[in-house]
Amino acid sequence: MAQRIAIISGDGIGVEVIREAQRVLERLIVSRRLALELVLFDWGAEKYLREGISLPAGALQMLSREFAAILIGALGDPRVPSNQHAVDILLGIRFGLDLYVSQRPVKLYDARLCPLKGRSERDVNLIIFRENTEGAYVGMGGNLKPGMDDEVAIQEDLNTRRGVERILVYAFEYANNRGLKRVCMSDKSNAMPSGHGLWQRVFQEVRARYPQVEARHLYIDTLAMELLRDPAQFDVIVTCNMFGDILSDLGAQLVGGLGIAPSANIHPGRTSMFEPVHGSAPSLAGKNRANPMAAILAAGMMLEYLGHAGAARDVESAVVEAIRQERTTPDLGGSLGTHEVGEWIRNRL
Ligand code: NAD
Ligand code: IPM
Ligand code: MN
Repeated sequence: MAQRIAIISGDGIGVEVIREAQRVLERLIVSRRLALELVLFDWGAEKYLREGISLPAGALQMLSREFAAILIGALGDPRVPSNQHAVDILLGIRFGLDLYVSQRPVKLYDARLCPLKGRSERDVNLIIFRENTEGAYVGMGGNLKPGMDDEVAIQEDLNTRRGVERILVYAFEYANNRGLKRVCMSDKSNAMPSGHGLWQRVFQEVRARYPQVEARHLYIDTLAMELLRDPAQFDVIVTCNMFGDILSDLGAQLVGGLGIAPSANIHPGRTSMFEPVHGSAPSLAGKNRANPMAAILAAGMMLEYLGHAGAARDVESAVVEAIRQERTTPDLGGSLGTHEVGEWIRNRL
């Protein structure tokens, strides 16, 4: 039976980059005889503005029952200043399907793309694990007396022992299974002793179960500084939802920018979701200028998750070759368009 994949291209450049990733999958379905069935969904700002529907009723059940994976572009549109549709769809799926692992690789494919002096591909190769269902993203809070001089705004930071433990265990297991030596946990427990004190305590418990892994802690401000100073000291970084969001953009820039940074939202064994780290970049939309590589690499991560390791490797190699041969969009110094980069990668495949 074919594995069914839900494709949600979303808004802005999401539409253009996912089109290229979808065509890569279609090419592989033929050339490698992959039993995948792609099903498109038009969820995004257009539909929300037209019909008032963001995530349709029953969508989560349908996704988890009928689909093996989801490939999503980006959500965000200047015509929806509240960002409500993105919260409903993107965070709705992350939370609703309990995709507690956000896996965001920071992998330098070509030394030329690193903004730091004298770094090689070996120096920048790490994975950020971002807790993906808790923290400051849970949407608990509200505004009292909105617009008045004495307005009160509350946005809770929610951390559970179960939630913290499962992302820490995932990070240690990942390192342990792949022979990666070093895991760094990062928090702000010096300023946020209740929530992040919990991270500290659970970290001490989990690290004791993995004596063969070098476990280290850095406060998030120091980690940001160290990541720039010497990225070679990291294999695996694990942190909370919001710090992981910020660090993954910083990490992306270490390897060439958001245009080549993919990510996975995983609950092991369940329907999981794959997406570029970048957003809908409205100023680039509709210009055939967005880099499709992040979306294509995200499709590669999805193939690996679905058990097609060979196809996943081929996708990554084709992207690396395009970078080496300078068949890239302007963000990586090239002069090709979104579509032309996608087409070059497909021909290479
Ligand atoms: P963004 O990631 O959309 O863009 C930031 C900058 O990065 C852009 O100006 C562009 O120069 C560059 N960039 C991003 N992707 C690129 C690509 N593929 N190729 C070349 N350059 C690229 O972030 P933003 O401007 O802060 O947000 C725009 C909208 O996207 C907002 O509505 C935001 O909420 C949303 N957003 C959505 C997601 C998501 O759906 N996962 C992620 C981030 C931001
Ligand atoms: C990301 C994005 C999202 C996040 C936004 C659009 C809510 O920045 O996927 O990195 O913060 O998780
Ligand atoms: Mn982000």
